[in-house]
Amino acid sequence: IGKELHHYDQVESTQAIAHRMAKQGKPHGTVIVADEQVKGKGRMSRPWHSPKGKGIWMSLLLRPELAPIQAPQLTLLAATVLAELISHYSELDPKIKWPNDILVNHKKISGILTEMQAEQDQIQYVVLGIGINVNQEEDEIPEEIRHKASSLKIESNKTWEVQTVIQHILRLFEQTYDQYLDSGFEHVKSIWEHYGYRIGEEVKISTMKRSWKAFLVGIEPDGALLARDDSGNEEKLYSAEIHWGE
Ligand code: BTN
Repeated sequence: IGKELHHYDQVESTQAIAHRMAKQGKPHGTVIVADEQVKGKGRMSRPWHSPKGKGIWMSLLLRPELAPIQAPQLTLLAATVLAELISHYSELDPKIKWPNDILVNHKKISGILTEMQAEQDQIQYVVLGIGINVNQEEDEIPEEIRHKASSLKIESNKTWEVQTVIQHILRLFEQTYDQYLDSGFEHVKSIWEHYGYRIGEEVKISTMKRSWKAFLVGIEPDGALLARDDSGNEEKLYSAEIHWGE
């Protein structure tokens, strides 16, 4: 992964470039990195603020031989890689908020956006977008999200070398990915649960139909969040709203 790495000064979004390269037949493991994105994309078509030189704005092109329902596992895998690295290279205590936000001190410093192209029962390719707020100062975080977003620098009081962090991510991602293909999701699942935000705690959950309190038990092999209510009823959540109590 990263043998073919394309680096840009400024792009609209590394996701769009990765999709284009996928369609041109670029190989598995192609990586797109930009210093700045002017139209960075978050989940649910939210914008993703990606100022020049302040963070990691990167998309990985993957061509796994997996079924489409396994794609969420790749997102969870990527989140564990980021949490492990932050934990290893700093004193910070990163958490993964399901499905894949990385929080430090309850604030989001990183997000992952997975987009997939599939045909019948086979993934054609996956574009895995990773955004990490690295060296922003407090006043460089947009004011309207400052209460819930942060950067590695703000939280750790040190400047991080962006290129080095990218190399670490690619190396650990490759290692974890190979291990996952060889031996399955169990290892990723246990790391994920180690870092899981509010796992083992009670939260409020709501769907279109109802609202209830439940304990977050962990994640399921397919990436769903498992919740158990007071009467012991378990529910697999795919898209419910969790009230994290922030
Ligand atoms: C989220 O938490 O909403 C996901 C954010 C994903 C941002 C990354 S930055 C690199 C890649 N290119 C994009 O336009 N988005 C992803």
